[in-house]
Parts: sequence; structure tokens; C-alpha cells
Amino acid sequence: MKTLRPGEEERMEMVQIEFTLNGERVVGRTPPHRTLLQFLRDEIQATEVKYGCGEGVCGACAVLLDGQAVNSCLTLAVQAHGRQVTTVRGLLQDGELHPLQAAFVAEGAVQCGFCTPGILITLLDHLQHHPHPSREEIRQMLAGNLCRCTGYRKIIKAVERYTLSVE
Ligand code: FES
Ligand code: FES
Repeated sequence: MKTLRPGEEERMEMVQIEFTLNGERVVGRTPPHRTLLQFLRDEIQATEVKYGCGEGVCGACAVLLDGQAVNSCLTLAVQAHGRQVTTVRGLLQDGELHPLQAAFVAEGAVQCGFCTPGILITLLDHLQHHPHPSREEIRQMLAGNLCRCTGYRKIIKAVERYTLSVE
């Protein structure tokens, strides 16, 4: 892999991108190789998207891209052009927590919280296709999301609480 020298990135060709982030239009410029994670955090301070491993292992950086969960560390910023990006901040509904977020609060399923944005995003993608998973299926939904604090039990209970509340 080619390593950029200091200042080299600035001399590279920049690409203009435009997308919708949590319902608001974003226009920016980026080198073609910059990840969506870097763009979100470093260019527009969307720091609710977490930088964990940077290589597709932990799931902390998950966002919805046109409604589908992706690891933003493995997605180029240019791939977001013309599309809808949703972060955990975009899950609020009229200023209220999304019912899945509320279930996490009710079950105490958050400790340090670093994994939580990515877990919520990943779960919402799965749950929109499969709204009433078994406990084992919930575990499988979480296979790409690492949490070092909770032991997952309260997260699973939160998902079960949420799924009981939806039709
Ligand atoms: S930071 Fe993207 S999967 Fe870990
Ligand atoms: S709550 Fe700390 S990593 Fe999951």
C-alpha cells in the first residue's frame, strides 16, 4: 500500500460530494481514498460515528446508507454521493428517543457507550427485515459488533423489550 507523505494528500485531486445526512444536505470535498468514517468525523464533526478498529471488525462505525447498515470505515466517502446517510443522531423522532434507544435505556444496556451507536444502527437494519427474532437470532445480528463492557445480556434483553413493543 502506498503511504502518503505529509502534505501529499492536500496535493491530490479532490472530489466534490453531496449527500443527505440525517435529513440535512451536506456538500464537501474529499480525496478519493478518504473513508466515509474519516469524512464524517473529521470534516463535519459527526463524532457520534465511532472509530474503533478502522478495519471492519468492531462495528462501532456503522451508519445506514440508503437504509442499509455499512461499516463506514470500509466505505469511501465518494460512495455516499447522492445517497442518504443516517447516524445514530438521526434516529431521534421529534426530539424523542427511537423506541429501540428507549429500550436500551430501560434495560441499562449501555455502559461506556462506545459501541452503542453502531449496535443501534446494525440492529435497526436487521430488525426492519426481521422484526421478531429469537434470542439466538439477536445474537447473530450482533455478530459484527464488539462490546467490551456489557457481556451483551442487557443488549439482548433490550432488543427483546423492543420487539415486544412492535406489531
Ligand atoms: S471502526 Fe469500522 S468496523 Fe471497527
Ligand atoms: S458499552 Fe462499552 S463497549 Fe459496549
